[in-house]
Order: sequence, then C-alpha cells, then structure tokens
Amino acid sequence: MESTRGKLIELLAKEEDNFVSGQKLSEQLDISRPAVWKHMKELEKDGYVIEAAPRKGYRIVSYPDKVSMNTVQWGLSTSWLGQRLIHKASVTSTQLIAHQEAQAGAEHGTVIIADEQTKGRGRLNRSWHSYKGEGIWMSIILRPTFEPHRSPQITLLAATVLAEVFKTYVGIKPQIKWPNDLLTNGKKLAGILTELQAEEDRVNYIVLGMGINVNQPSSSFPEDIQRKASSLKIETGESLELTGLIKEILQTFEKRYNEFNEEGFRPIKLRWEAFGYRLGEMVPIQTYQKEWNGRIMGIEDDGALRVLDDKGQEQKLYSAEIQW
Ligand code: BTN
Repeated sequence: MESTRGKLIELLAKEEDNFVSGQKLSEQLDISRPAVWKHMKELEKDGYVIEAAPRKGYRIVSYPDKVSMNTVQWGLSTSWLGQRLIHKASVTSTQLIAHQEAQAGAEHGTVIIADEQTKGRGRLNRSWHSYKGEGIWMSIILRPTFEPHRSPQITLLAATVLAEVFKTYVGIKPQIKWPNDLLTNGKKLAGILTELQAEEDRVNYIVLGMGINVNQPSSSFPEDIQRKASSLKIETGESLELTGLIKEILQTFEKRYNEFNEEGFRPIKLRWEAFGYRLGEMVPIQTYQKEWNGRIMGIEDDGALRVLDDKGQEQKLYSAEIQW
C-alpha cells in the first residue's frame, strides 16, 4: 500500500530501534512536520506504540496486535485483493455484510473482516463460533468470469490456500477434508463457506467466507465441540498475531487465484491431493439420506470427490459429508 502512512511506517521500520528525525520524515514524505506528528497520532490509534524524543525524532516501540483497515493494508503486497477492506468490531456475520456490499456494487477483491460475529454461520446452516479477537472471520467478494458450475472449485482453492499458509507460515501441516474443512490431529482448525449469486450462465458474485481458529484456548469452544475443534494456538502452543496471518492469506490467495485463472484447476487439484484427508482410506460418508463406507481416491478435474464404494465402483460426489 503506497499511502503516506504506509511509507511512514516503512521508513520507521527500516531504522528499527533508532530514532528518525521529524525533519527527515517530512522531507522524505514531502509533508510538513505538523503533518508528520498528526500521522503519528493516527498510528497510535491503530495500536502502534511510538516514542517521540526531542531533538531525536520518532521510533516505533511496538507494532499493533490490533486488526484494522490500516494494519492489514500496510505492507500488503496484493494488487487487487483487499485494496478495499472493511473492518468492523462486531457484526452478525461478515457473509451478510459482504452480500450487502456486493449487491451495492462492491468491486472484485473487496474484503470484510470482523473482530467478532454474533451470528457466524457455517455450511449446512450450522453456527460458527466467532468470539472477539480469537480468530479470523473474513469474507471476500469475488466477481469471476467463469461459469457458475465451476464455483465449487473456489472452495477447494481457498482450502489449499489455507493449508499452504498453515504449513509455511504457521508450521502445521493440516489435512483438507473435502470439501471445506481444515483439520489437524482430527480436529477442525478452519472452515470455508462459499455462497453464490448467479444466473444460469454467469456468476454475479461469490462471497467466500473463511473462519480460522487462531488464538482460542480449548475452553473457548462450547463443550459439545471441544472434542472436534482446535486452534493454531492449541496446536503450536503460541499465540499468533492476526494481522500478519491475514496478510499472508490474502497474498497467497491472490497468487493462487491468478494462477487458477491462467492455468485452470489442475494445479489446485494436485495441491489439494497433497493435503487430502485420509486419502486411500475407508471412511464413513453421508450422502442424501444414506451413510455408507467409501475409499477416498482424490478429486476429479472439476473438483468432485472420487470415492470407491464397497463394490469397487468409482463414484463422483458433488455433495457429501465425510464423517470424522
Ligand atoms: C464451515 O466450516 O461450515 C464454514 C465456516 C465458515 C465461517 C466463516 S467466518 C467468516 C464468514 N462469516 C460467516 O458467518 N461464516 C464465514
């Protein structure tokens, strides 16, 4: 983000513990010294701790662990994703806000993030626990040019993005349970909810929701889901700074989405299978009214789940729930 604020933080960050004079900042940013001071006050509101010393200048003492439009956008190296970013302290559901924004014409790549959701929702009308500051509750508006039948591939793309970020940035190798769950040690770390507004042959917009359990202790989850839910903190033993993780997700998502547009679904399929949950194993599968056991073989080129039934017949599933 090439804003004055972004450049200001960059200048201060480069100097680490050293002070940077108000004069130097004003020259490099081409703004007056009172304007520099005003920017410092704004940074403090965003949670930066700034030390100002007479005749020495300014330095950053600590960075914010507070999610805001500025803290996420500063240093974000995307070209379209998150260029418009709406951050709210509390909402019913970021999905709902995203639908409203999309219907009002919000551009491709608009991101909505909330500290807390009071009615977070998951797939199959389940509720999604989204307590204040404990996780990432985020919805992305996409305006793809592909046909509506390819939309489920976006869920799989998002799952591989989260898996990649958890592996490289957090140091956890998760498994993806088709179509939308990220698990580790058999417990759920994150879920994805893709909602679509489409006509027969064109997608008006997609709202892609991601819920990521980051800093919850296990006591944060309601008792009935403690057995099945986990957080990155529980798995690594360390709290994670949310803004850094959000940036990483947005940057990786943009890169992979661009690749998807240029090269199609194949690279995602391969990446997905590298993280696939219980590939090659027999698992209980729920489809429509029946539950049966099947062997998960991978995914098709269109994103459908490939399963062998107990007669050895290959089935292509577009809608199913793998029990775990
Ligand atoms: C699931 O696993 O069933 C999907 C969970 C998706 C939760 C996210 S949190 C951000 C966005 N807002 C919502 O209300 N839901 C999604």
